[in-house]
Amino acid sequence: MWLFPGIIFSLGMLIPGKLSLKLQYDGDQVFHIVPETFQQVQHLQHLCSTLLLDLWKPQLPEDIRAGEDLHIRVPASLVQEVKDNLDHHMISYKVLIPDVQELMDQSMPKERSSHRQVPEGYVYTQYHPMEEIYQWMTQIQKSNSELVTQHYLGKTIENRTMYYLQISQPSEKTKKIIWMDCGIHAREWISPAFCQWFVKEILQNYKSDPKISRFLQNLDLYVLPVLNIDGYIYSWEKDRLWRKNRSPHMNGTCYGTDLNRNFNSSWGSVGVSYNCSSETFCGSGPESEPETRAVAQLIERKKSDILCYLTIHSYGQYILTPYGFTTEPPSNSEELMHVAEKAASVLMGKYGTSYKVGSTSLILYSNSGSSRDWAHMIGIPFSYTFELRDNGTYGFVLPIDQIQPTCEETMLAVTTIIEYVDQKYFPGGAVMLTSGSLGLSLCLNVLLTWTAS
Ligand SMILES: *[C@@H]1O[C@H](CO)[C@@H](O)[C@H](O)[C@H]1NC(C)=O
Ligand SMILES: *[C@@H]1O[C@H](CO)[C@@H](O)[C@H](O)[C@H]1NC(C)=O
Ligand SMILES: *[C@@H]1O[C@H](CO)[C@@H](O)[C@H](O)[C@H]1NC(C)=O
Ligand SMILES: *[C@@H]1O[C@H](CO)[C@@H](O)[C@H](O)[C@H]1NC(C)=O
Ligand SMILES: *[C@@H]1O[C@H](CO)[C@@H](O)[C@H](O)[C@H]1NC(C)=O
Repeated sequence: MWLFPGIIFSLGMLIPGKLSLKLQYDGDQVFHIVPETFQQVQHLQHLCSTLLLDLWKPQLPEDIRAGEDLHIRVPASLVQEVKDNLDHHMISYKVLIPDVQELMDQSMPKERSSHRQVPEGYVYTQYHPMEEIYQWMTQIQKSNSELVTQHYLGKTIENRTMYYLQISQPSEKTKKIIWMDCGIHAREWISPAFCQWFVKEILQNYKSDPKISRFLQNLDLYVLPVLNIDGYIYSWEKDRLWRKNRSPHMNGTCYGTDLNRNFNSSWGSVGVSYNCSSETFCGSGPESEPETRAVAQLIERKKSDILCYLTIHSYGQYILTPYGFTTEPPSNSEELMHVAEKAASVLMGKYGTSYKVGSTSLILYSNSGSSRDWAHMIGIPFSYTFELRDNGTYGFVLPIDQIQPTCEETMLAVTTIIEYVDQKYFPGGAVMLTSGSLGLSLCLNVLLTWTAS
């Protein structure tokens, strides 16, 4: 090696070269503001719009409200100007993230060698790039072939293949379905991490955990680990804060549709943008995006069997019920709330993390075209959006040391919902088969005991 210092040197040079293709956020800061008056709200709306600041919460300037959290990313070049401006208008603020890039660098995996990817060695407490998630899906199916199958779902706009995993215990009877998707928004990396964790936990524990083995007798689990694959890859390779998919618009002058504004639930009516540069661009029509269509077609086909639709996002710590496009509650809203509150309270029991529960339009902001609303509208009775950790301290750049606690607590909440659904639709204990065979063996026992005596 000492013979070729030049080669080592030039290899070293490749790394910064490669990184420089990626958008950098050095010195960018995230501010937390709680506007107090309507004047402050108006001023902040104006400031965000004119300086094109990146809103993390809420998504759109029109949703900024007095008394509610506002999280904005301010580019390094504007930090001083924005601080002066806020001071001048006597708006108090707190810096949540003093250097966005530094935080991003910390959540990247330390080494990326390929031998980490064997199934037993898969590290669930790190974020994984898409190629590793593809390999993980293949591996998890191979090593659990009695339970897991991988299915083709469709293609992304950049022609990548979308797969979902089906966890299904072999059985004669027809079962109902729980659907869960992750990663509809690219930068919400904790979401795909949770889908992978969920699958791992089910597979590890279904034999020993009576709750899991009960619901697996009645329910199949369909898990889509990354819905927005192109966007997810883009968030790894080009822009950590990318949100949308990668569909080109206006002759490629702007990219991406917000897939969670693209479903056929009062599409385009509220909380969206028709400007393709916007983070909330709703696309050219309902289901204009191939990713949306792929999901919608499968769910549409299976809808009479799907009892529960779960979509996992971050951040903010919410369990959200339909609807986002209207404040009119769905007919089963009381039950939806009751179950979500139960889930949130079980979640809190683990690490004390506090979640808000409620209808999207009432407790967060209005938005149309969400998958949660659409799923409920086509007749899936239980439909929820999870907004995972955190509440803004790190926002979209959740540090890796929070992956495990986040997944553990979320697992409890999700299984609480699944158990409720299972018991509601399959009340008499486990399946007929089991109670039948239990009855039979009791009879036999009696018979044998009687004969013996
Ligand atoms: C998409 O990928 C398939 C193979 O997976 C290939 O046959 C096809 O030509 C590709 N289409 C486009 C538009 O790139
Ligand atoms: C896209 O480009 C074509 C040809 O270059 C042009 O005719 C068309 O008007 C452009 N469309 C838009 C929306 O800019
Ligand atoms: C959207 O839903 C409406 C009915 O609510 C239906 O008429 C229309 O065909 C649907 N569009 C798509 C793209 O599925
Ligand atoms: C769309 O938004 C971009 C960036 O916010 C802005 O520069 C552009 O003028 C907008 N386009 C239209 C048609 O409003
Ligand atoms: C988040 O919650 C913690 C306690 O759970 C609190 O101390 C902190 O101020 C909250 N942060 C924001 C940005 O709301």
